[in-house]
Amino acid sequence: MAIVVKDLNKIYRIGSMEIRAVRGLNLTVKEGEMIALIGPSGSGKTTLLNIIGGLDKATSGSITVFGKEITNFEPQELVEYRRQTVGHIFQTLNLIPTLTAAENAKLPMIALGASGEEQNRRVDELIDVVGLSERKNHKPGELSGGEQQRVAIAAALANDPAIILADEPTGELDSVNASIIVDYLNKVNKEMGKTIIMVTHDPTAARSADRILRIQDGVVRTDVEPVESQAKDSVNYADILKERISDIDRQLEELDDSFRKGSVTGDEFVEGQTKLKQTRSVLVDELHRLGILY
Ligand SMILES: Nc1ncnc2c1ncn2[C@@H]1O[C@H](COP(=O)(O)OP(=O)(O)OP(=O)(O)O)[C@@H](O)[C@H]1O
Ligand SMILES: [Mg+2]
Repeated sequence: MAIVVKDLNKIYRIGSMEIRAVRGLNLTVKEGEMIALIGPSGSGKTTLLNIIGGLDKATSGSITVFGKEITNFEPQELVEYRRQTVGHIFQTLNLIPTLTAAENAKLPMIALGASGEEQNRRVDELIDVVGLSERKNHKPGELSGGEQQRVAIAAALANDPAIILADEPTGELDSVNASIIVDYLNKVNKEMGKTIIMVTHDPTAARSADRILRIQDGVVRTDVEPVESQAKDSVNYADILKERISDIDRQLEELDDSFRKGSVTGDEFVEGQTKLKQTRSVLVDELHRLGILY
C-alpha cells in the first residue's frame, strides 16, 4: 500500500468554535493507483490532502505512507517528506509571478541541492513532459490558465516524488483545457508510475481515475470504480436511475406551477417537495455509488 489513512480526525478551533473537518476517515491507496476525491464544498477534501501532504497536522488517527507513519514524524522528517515523497498541486495556483515557467518548475529542486547542470537537464525534461518546451521562458502572466496549471504539474514532479496530490487541478479551466490537464495527469500516472490523489468537481476528470471516493461530512461515503469498467447491466441501471431523476425534476416543476396557480396549499407544496427531494437524493446517491456524477 502506498497510503493508509486510519481513523483520521481533524478539528479546527477558532476561539471557542470547533470545526470537525475530518471525522474518522479511513482510506487506502495502492502504489500506482489514481484516485479521484469528490464531494461537496467544505466536506474536508483539501484538509485531507493537506494532512497527507504533511502540510497540516491531524488531530488524531494515523497516516502511513510507504510503511512510515508520517503522523509521528519529527519536524525535520516532515520537511524531507514534503520535499521528496509528495508533489503538491494546490487548489489556488501558487506559481511565482516573477519567475519563468522553467524557473518555477526548478524551484523545488533547489532545496535538494542537485548540481545546476543536473537541475537544468531535469527541468527541460519536465517542461517537455507537460508539453511546454515552447513556453519555458514565459512568466505565469504570459501563459494561459491551462499552461500555468501544467507548470504546476512540472513543479510537483520536480523532485521525482512517488505521490502527486492535486487539489482541483482543473477547477478554473474550461472543458478543453481541463481535459488536457487530466490527460497529462493520466500520463504521469500511467507512464511515470506515480500514485495520484486528485480532488475534482469535474465528472470527466473523476471518471479517468481508477477509483472515485466520495467524501461527505469528513468521511468517505462511497468508494467505486468508474462505470466504464463495470458490466453493461449497470450502465442500463444507471440510465434507469437518470430517467427517474429527470422524472422527479419534472414533477418538482409541476409542483412549483401548481403552487403558483394556487391549486396546492403551502403545506402540500412543502410536503410534496420534501418527499420528491428525498427520493431524488437517494437516486443521486445510488448513481454516485456506481461512479457516475450527476
Ligand atoms: N484553517 C482552517 N481553519 C478553520 N476551519 C477550516 C480551516 N480549513 C478548513 N476549514 C473548515 O473545514 C471544513 C473542510 O474544509 P476543506 O477546505 O477541507 O473543504 P473542501 O472539501 O476542500 O471544500 P472545497 O470543495 O470548497 O474546496 C470547512 O468547514 C472549512 O470551513
Ligand atoms: Mg478544497
